[in-house]
Parts: sequence; C-alpha cells; structure tokens
Amino acid sequence: MENITSKSSSDQKFRDLFNKQLIKDATEEEIKIVLSGQYGKALELLRDAEATGLFPALVGPPGVGKTILCRYFASLRAKENKDASFYWLTMDESIRPANFMGSFDPALTLKYGFILEAFSPGPLLRAMLEGGTFLANEINRATEYSQNTLLEPLEEASIGIPHIGRIKAAQDFFFICAMNPEELSGTHRLSEALKDRIKVWIKLTYPEKSTELDIIRINLPEHFMIEESELELIYSIINETRKNKIDIEVPASIRAGIAIAKLLGRKRFLEEKGEIKEKKSVYEYLSDISRHVLLGSIKPKPGIKVEHILDNIINKTLGG
Ligand SMILES: Nc1ncnc2c1ncn2[C@@H]1O[C@H](COP(=O)(O)OP(=O)(O)O)[C@@H](O)[C@H]1O
Ligand SMILES: [Mg+2]
Repeated sequence: MENITSKSSSDQKFRDLFNKQLIKDATEEEIKIVLSGQYGKALELLRDAEATGLFPALVGPPGVGKTILCRYFASLRAKENKDASFYWLTMDESIRPANFMGSFDPALTLKYGFILEAFSPGPLLRAMLEGGTFLANEINRATEYSQNTLLEPLEEASIGIPHIGRIKAAQDFFFICAMNPEELSGTHRLSEALKDRIKVWIKLTYPEKSTELDIIRINLPEHFMIEESELELIYSIINETRKNKIDIEVPASIRAGIAIAKLLGRKRFLEEKGEIKEKKSVYEYLSDISRHVLLGSIKPKPGIKVEHILDNIINKTLGG
C-alpha cells in the first residue's frame, strides 16, 4: 500500500481530474436532445418496451442519433428509479465475452485462486446486478461468438460466471442495442438466436428537415449564431449527399451538418469582432468549409473520387 500513496504529483493531478470529471450516474449528465419527429416516437417505443419487459433495438445508419437517444432514455430511467445505472459497450470484432461479463485479475487469481475478490466485473454484469440499463452499441459488429454472451441474460435474466456461479438479474435490469443496417460493410449479421430475443425494432433514419435544423441549432454554441438562410443552405448541402445513392455509399450524417454550422458560426463571430479583414460571401465560406468537413464525412462508392462528388454537390447547392 505504501508505494501506492507515494506516487508522483502528476499522478495526483490525474486522480484529481478523474474524480472531478467522473460521471457518477446517468442522472448527472445533461443531454441536449431534440424530441420532435422520429425521436419522440422512438422514445415512446423505448418506454413501451421497458414497461412491457421487451428488449428493443435501434437500427439506423451512423450519426442519426441512436446513441444520444439511448443515453437520454437511460438518464430518464435513472431519474425515476433511484440509483439506476447506465453502462454501454461499443462493439467490434475484438470484443470478447469477458468484455461484457468481466474477468479475473491474473495477479490476484494466481495468489488467491478464482475467488470473487479477484474478479473485476464487466458492464453487463454490473447493469444486471444494479438493475441498470445496458446498451450494446454497434452490436452487429461483434462476432456471433460474442453476441451469444447475451442469450442467457436476455432469455433467462441470468448469467453464469465461470468458477463463481450464476446470478439472477435485478428486477429493473434493461437491455437496449443499437446497430447499423446490415448492408453497410464491416458488420456481421445479428445472430438469429439473438434476433429472436429482441422484440421491438425501432428504425431511425436521417430526420426530416425541420427536426434536423433544430438539432443543428441546439448543438451550436450561443456565440456562434448563424442566420436562418445559412442554416437552410447547410441543410441543402447535407441533404444533397443523401440523394446521390449512385456515387455515395455513406452520406453526410447529422454530425457533418453540425460541424459545418459551427465553422461558419466561428467565421461570423470573428467578423463581428472585427478580426476578419476581407469578409467573404456566405457562398465562399460554405464552399470552403463544406469541403473540409465532407471530405472525410462521406464515403464514396468504390472507384469514385470524393473530390468529384464534392464539386458536384457544391455546384448544385451553392452555384459556381
Ligand atoms: N435528437 C437529437 N437531438 C440532439 N442532437 C442530436 C439528435 N440526434 C443526433 N444528434 C447529434 O448528432 C450526433 C450523432 O448522434 P449519435 O447519437 O452519436 O448517432 P449514432 O449513434 O446513430 O451514430 C450527436 O452527437 C448529437 O450531437
Ligand atoms: Mg452511436
């Protein structure tokens, strides 16, 4: 214990910052969310699923708001059921069952054997014990082997930990998963066994215009305000990437629109402060900013050059 407390002062700084920034429970997070259109409906479905003990899945392309909706739902639950926790795990091929359940600390296990004290619990096990919410994010990126870890918790509300025993989930345990549609590359299929245990399927897609504009507004810092007409232009650029299904595999997400709006907002802010000598037209700003944001925000179909797509989109929406 001695050499733990006498660690250097930079370690102390790390610990202080860590404790200051630690999110202690899901109620503490302030989530700025727009609940009009599809989001309100999806939230209602999540609540219905929760009330009936049916497990839901959110399905949709990247950046349509799956994660933020789950976080918001979990924070509502946490406010209602005191102490309810929220855990999530974002999956890919490298995720193993131990990442869900937890694992034995090798040093402690060597010394004391497979005892509970040597076991460090994973997020799924914690959520089950605490009656919290577990979000399996990007679940169809996990291999079928890892997906199978979820079968017993979902079907029997229990889970077996090797060498320790089997636990029953607390009454309030709830499971949600989120995934991209299967046709996008880089994903495994959801196993049929798991599919059969998920009973409420909630599709999210790119939101309708008024909702997306609200989302951009809510995410724009106060001092980076832009005009409504500029917001409309940004939407038209983003929306154009979603129309071109021949050249574009993954179009611009909501994040891209927010990023363009922020960068334009900063230009407007600097103009107001008199720090920009040569003001540019909104078209010049947006043509420049959009290129920098969209270059990595859209995924072209194989063999198509992203620069070529960008030229077309900017010509079409901003002209020249
Ligand atoms: N309904 C919404 N209200 C507010 N912001 C949203 C909403 N939907 C999406 N966003 C914004 O878009 C970003 C992407 O959403 P996210 O939930 O991470 O998408 P996904 O999980 O589907 O990839 C979020 O960081 C958030 O800023
Ligand atoms: Mg996400």
